[in-house]
Order: sequence, then C-alpha cells, then structure tokens
Amino acid sequence: MHRRHFLKLTAALSAAGALPLWSRSLMAATRPLLPIPSILQPDARGQYTLTAMSGTSQWNGKSVPTWGYNGNLLGPVLRLQREKPVTVNIHNRLAEGTTVHWHGLEIPGDVDGGPQAVIAPGASRQVSFTPDQPAATCWFHPHQHGKTGYQVAQGLAGLVLLEDMDSGKLRLPMQWGEDDVPLIFQDKQLTQDGTKIDYQLDIMRAAVGWFGDMMLTNGVQYPQQAVPRGWLRLRLLNGCNARSLDIATSDRRPMYVIASDGGLLAEPVKVENLPLLPGERFEVMIDTSDGKTFDVVTLPVTQMGMTLAPFDQPLPLVQILPLRVMASGTMPDKLVDLPLVPSSEGVQNRWLQLMMDPQLDQQGMQALMDRYGHKAMGDMKMDHGSMDMMGGAMKMDHGNMDMGGGAMKMDHGTMAMDHGSHEKPAGYDFHNGNKINGQAFNMAKPMFNAELGKVEKWTISGEGDAMLHPFHIHGAQFRILSENGKPPAPHRTGWKDMVSVNGWRSEVLVRFNYVANAENAYMAHCHLLEHEDTGMMLGFTVS
Ligand code: C2O
Ligand code: CU
Ligand code: CU
Repeated sequence: MHRRHFLKLTAALSAAGALPLWSRSLMAATRPLLPIPSILQPDARGQYTLTAMSGTSQWNGKSVPTWGYNGNLLGPVLRLQREKPVTVNIHNRLAEGTTVHWHGLEIPGDVDGGPQAVIAPGASRQVSFTPDQPAATCWFHPHQHGKTGYQVAQGLAGLVLLEDMDSGKLRLPMQWGEDDVPLIFQDKQLTQDGTKIDYQLDIMRAAVGWFGDMMLTNGVQYPQQAVPRGWLRLRLLNGCNARSLDIATSDRRPMYVIASDGGLLAEPVKVENLPLLPGERFEVMIDTSDGKTFDVVTLPVTQMGMTLAPFDQPLPLVQILPLRVMASGTMPDKLVDLPLVPSSEGVQNRWLQLMMDPQLDQQGMQALMDRYGHKAMGDMKMDHGSMDMMGGAMKMDHGNMDMGGGAMKMDHGTMAMDHGSHEKPAGYDFHNGNKINGQAFNMAKPMFNAELGKVEKWTISGEGDAMLHPFHIHGAQFRILSENGKPPAPHRTGWKDMVSVNGWRSEVLVRFNYVANAENAYMAHCHLLEHEDTGMMLGFTVS
C-alpha cells in the first residue's frame, strides 16, 4: 500500500519528466521508504471500522510480533470534518481487553474511550460523535488502565485529521503523503535477540518510563521521503511512551510551526528546534525549494533516562528528498483568529499536585543507575534550591554543585548513593506509586466535577521531583497561562491538550463543553504512560 502510493507519486513525476535519473537512483538506495498511513474509507453505510489486531513487523531483518489497527502496526488515519457526525465500529481481536481513546477530540465522556470503555477480547463497540472544534491533528490509542503503556508499545496508535472550512481556505499543503506528511515518532526496545518488543512495567519504568534504543518514524528506522519543492507540511506526533524529543533539521533550516495540539496558530512561528512531549502534536512548514536533501532529527534532551545512545547526539528520524516538481501549497502570514485567552478572574481554581512515592522515586532511580550508570540521569534540575529532590535518597556534596543559570549541573562523580536505604520495604507496591493530590487513580471515584461550559484554571504542579510530566486533559482543548513558571513559548499559546510540568508548576485555562458522568468520567493524567499506568491519573465528571 505505502510502496504503491510512493510508486504512484514517482511514476506520475517521471511521466511528467519531473523525476530526473539522479533522483531515481538516489531514491533506490537501501533506505526504506517512509510508510504513509492510509486514510480510512467509510463503508457503504458511511461508517468506519477499526480492528485492534496482532501482526508482525520487520526490524533489523527480523520478524517481531506487533499490534496495529486494521494492520500490523499503528493504524489508518481517521479523517473527519467539523460538524459532520461520525460512527466508528471498533473490534477487539486481541487476547486482552482494550479501549480506543480519541486524544484531543472534544467529545462527550461516553464516547471518549477512557479506561472504563473496555472492549473485551473478541467484542466490539460502536461510538458515534460529531466533532465541533477547529481543524487539528489528533490521535487515537488504547487507554486500558495499567496496560496503556504496554498496548501503545505493541504498536496501537493512529492519527485523526480533523478538517474545517477555515483551514480549507488557507491553501496550506494538503496532498496527503506528498506535501502534507505525517510523522509518528516512537522509540522501542527489542529483546536482545531482536525478535520481540521488550516491554516491562517494573519499578525503573514506573519511575522514569519505558524507553528504547530504536527510533521509528511511522514504524520504520530512518526512512526517506520524496517531496515536491516548495512548502512541505509535516504533522508531527510524539507517540513515544515516555521520551520527549527535540525536533530540528540536519542543516538547521528553520521550521515554521503552524499548529499545536488543538489546531492552527494565529500565525506561523519560526523555530530552530521544537521540543515535543510524549502525546504532543505540532504541524510545521519547511521550505524545500532549494532542492537539497536534509534530515529531520531529534536533538539530545536532558530528561532522565533519555540521554543514552543513540540519543546522545542528533539522531536522524527521516530523510527528506525534494524532487524537481513544484509544490502548490503556500504559507500564509496569518492563519486563524485565535480567541483571546479568557480572563482567569473569579474562575474555579484547581490545584493538581503530581507526586511519586519516595520509595518509587528512590528505588526507580537506583535501578536506572544500576542498569545504565549515571549517564542515564540526565541533567537533573534542582527543585528551586531544594536539595532534597530525590526523596532524601541522594546525598550531594553541595560544595561541588554548580548553581549557575538556575539549572543545576552536578558533578555526578560526587553523588553518594545511600545503598542502605534501598532495601525494598515489604509490601511496597509501585503499581500505585504515582499519585495526584495524594491519590493513585481510582476508576470508581472521580476526583471532582467541573461545571459544563465554565472556564476553570488548573494549576498542575510537579514541584518535588526531578521528573518530566507531560500532562494531558481529556474532553477539551485548553490554553496555557504559564508553563514551569514562565509564559508559554509563542508556538505554545494556541489550543493545547498537553502541557509540560517539569520540576515546577504550570497553569492552564480549560473549559469543558460536553458532559461526562461518573461512569464515563474524563481523565486527566501524566502522558508518560508508565506514570499514568501506575496511578498518576484522575477521573473527573462534567455536568
Ligand atoms: Cu493520549 Cu488519556 O490520553
Ligand atoms: Cu486524551
Ligand atoms: Cu509523569
């Protein structure tokens, strides 16, 4: 399918005399082609079908069991129109229960696909909803509590393209897989012999998340994509369980961010690099008119556990090869009229304190150190002057710390781990070791009710640990007021469903336009999937 699509493009280009010999030979190299997820077509009744199933993928010349929707890995693209009703029939052909959550869509709780909406093995579920929000790149993935990380790691994830009239008028690139190209980034860890996905939810992963040393773009390693010359639109999704990325181009050509999680920005924002949290999407435009080949890369990040090779240097994710044919899309100076951020005066305030059991923090960190050494610890940020960032487990030589610049750089060689305190206390269960406001996720007990249609200000705090918490709220797109104590970067001021909480606190203004009852409560959670699976999630109702 993907190959056919590509061949169609190249055949059309060479028929038009547009594809010169040199680029054909360039393309014929061993590098795999970027698979383009196909757009799911409705059946005769106008309904869509998604089937979660098992299959196999080929990596490093070996067959690896993987899961996908309607295929071996990942899934098709669900293309929706604003205000047009949609019905999706979901079948579960896996040997375990799963759910399908529509990440980023503002739809009622009973079709949101949260952890309550389990589809038993062999069973089906039909959901109908009518999206009514601006055009956006969203996604769908499982939300089976305690298993979300595992099921996503197996390969279950797909894109939702929501379209509307305003975005249609902009003449942005929109030839799917040609000048409008989705890039789903995921890291994976395979077993030593390379024949299985090596997923474990142990204390180390519960603390820092599941991460791997193999990086995939749309399911393959470092593929190539031929594109026309001109404006290229990339729809980026960080589909990693836990790894944050920092996207850039290999030749440092700028990217222009045109959309965030929930839709188009007011105007393009030029960036040299683009941090991308797990669960986050951005759309960027890149000028390929010079015809030069370049890579989209991810730069090293400082997140704990994510600093190991091959992520310790710019890592190529996909090679972009501009052909001689010209693209037709444009990049407008103005995109959409973003509504002003509403006033936070007098609105309902909520404080969500993300927390990790000290045992989990200590033992998880110790396990990370034991397995990978101090290289894995990242650039541990100090909690605004507090020395006790590791729950007391780590004794630091204050004399050797460089306090410069706010971000603390430590001489790792001077850290003395207190091994004596790492005995696992009997009965400690890390499966509920991550909490919000002192409580691990409880499906039977929504934490609060948000009033339908009313703006609320949520402050999400990660003060007290050195972890990155990519925080996500169901049922709404919000606006960021402050992110880790700073005003949001310009490209993070539009519609968002993800916010960074990184050793400090972030404030968002959110309004829910649909009902979620207690049986179908919305979720708010850390999108580091192993934090979510071990309790850093809450349910809330809207009425
Ligand atoms: Cu992308 Cu509640 O999840
Ligand atoms: Cu979601
Ligand atoms: Cu987290």
